[in-house]
Amino acid sequence: MSILQHFKGKGKSGFGYSSTAEEVTDGLSLDGKTILVTGCNSGLGYETLRVLSLRGAQVVGAARTLDKAKTACAQAAKTSSGASPIPLECELSQPTSVRACVAQIKKEGLKFDAILCNAGIMALPKLHQAFGLELQFFTNHIGHFMLVTGILDQLNDQGRVVMLSSGAHNMAPRGGISFDNLSGEKEYRAWTAYGQSKMANLLFSKELARRLAGTSKTANAVHPGVIPTPLGRNMNPIAQKLFRTLTPLVLKTPQQGAATQVYAAVHPKAAGISGSYFADCNVASHRSDANDPELARRLWDVSEKIAINLPG
Ligand SMILES: NC(=O)c1ccc[n+]([C@@H]2O[C@H](COP(=O)([O-])OP(=O)(O)OC[C@H]3O[C@@H](n4cnc5c(N)ncnc54)[C@H](OP(=O)(O)O)[C@@H]3O)[C@@H](O)[C@H]2O)c1
Repeated sequence: MSILQHFKGKGKSGFGYSSTAEEVTDGLSLDGKTILVTGCNSGLGYETLRVLSLRGAQVVGAARTLDKAKTACAQAAKTSSGASPIPLECELSQPTSVRACVAQIKKEGLKFDAILCNAGIMALPKLHQAFGLELQFFTNHIGHFMLVTGILDQLNDQGRVVMLSSGAHNMAPRGGISFDNLSGEKEYRAWTAYGQSKMANLLFSKELARRLAGTSKTANAVHPGVIPTPLGRNMNPIAQKLFRTLTPLVLKTPQQGAATQVYAAVHPKAAGISGSYFADCNVASHRSDANDPELARRLWDVSEKIAINLPG
């Protein structure tokens, strides 16, 4: 158990570092709510799928393959108190898959009370690319950008978009986003690239919040904590060992790790909050350049151009 648990209390929301997703939804009925969760088959995504279903929401669970989504949804259905979760394929590094997912959502007329962009990859030791762009930037940001902007009309009034960012956004390069090195070819550092992708998630939520201003729809970003999930699978073996040795001091359980995104997506106290960054189930501060509207707008424009020019 993390030693932080003993030092970190609860915040204004009444929840804090140790709160679990079940605790933040205790007593809430999510009957009639429909919520999309990406990366639903593993770690925080699965716990989010499980708890939202437990509270009666109709969860639409997206994973890289339909088989993975089906397996996760079938497992969560065992404890669901509402309709069985609906599995969907969405491979975020493949524009054809993202576009097919968008088309299917529209065809089925799904309307969402929350869209939770949870899927992600972290700290690839070597440069990998998709369509000429560094793979973490592509998967974590561009894939979700295409998905969310593609289904924005499917977001209900008072609907909430929640982007999984990370405290690792602090590791993004100076200036926030290296627009002249989105391919990663000029220079590649695993943690800087991951940090940049999580900064992109945060900036996207900020710009989306600005575009949603004047409506009752919201967009926010979340740092879930540090949680032992398969997310570290791509780190080099030495870094994985170091992570396993050091992190018990600061680790949350997956149940605690899913709490902040679930809080931001469904808790009544988070209603109406937009353009914020949550950590430990409370509004928190983040790197100051994430508040730069020019930077966020530029990232949106660049992402739009990238998306338009992708094949499929
Ligand atoms: N765990 C932490 O300490 C921590 C800290 C800060 C932020 N986060 C963020 O929290 C989110 C969830 O992470 P986690 O810890 O739950 O990790 P995880 O267990 O590895 O789950 C990541 C999910 O993303 C999916 N995914 C990866 N690449 C994808 C792609 N190309 N297309 C579609 N889905 C893809 C994975 O699918 P597969 O299983 O098929 O690979 C998996 O379902 C991530 O965005 C991460 O950056 C985590």
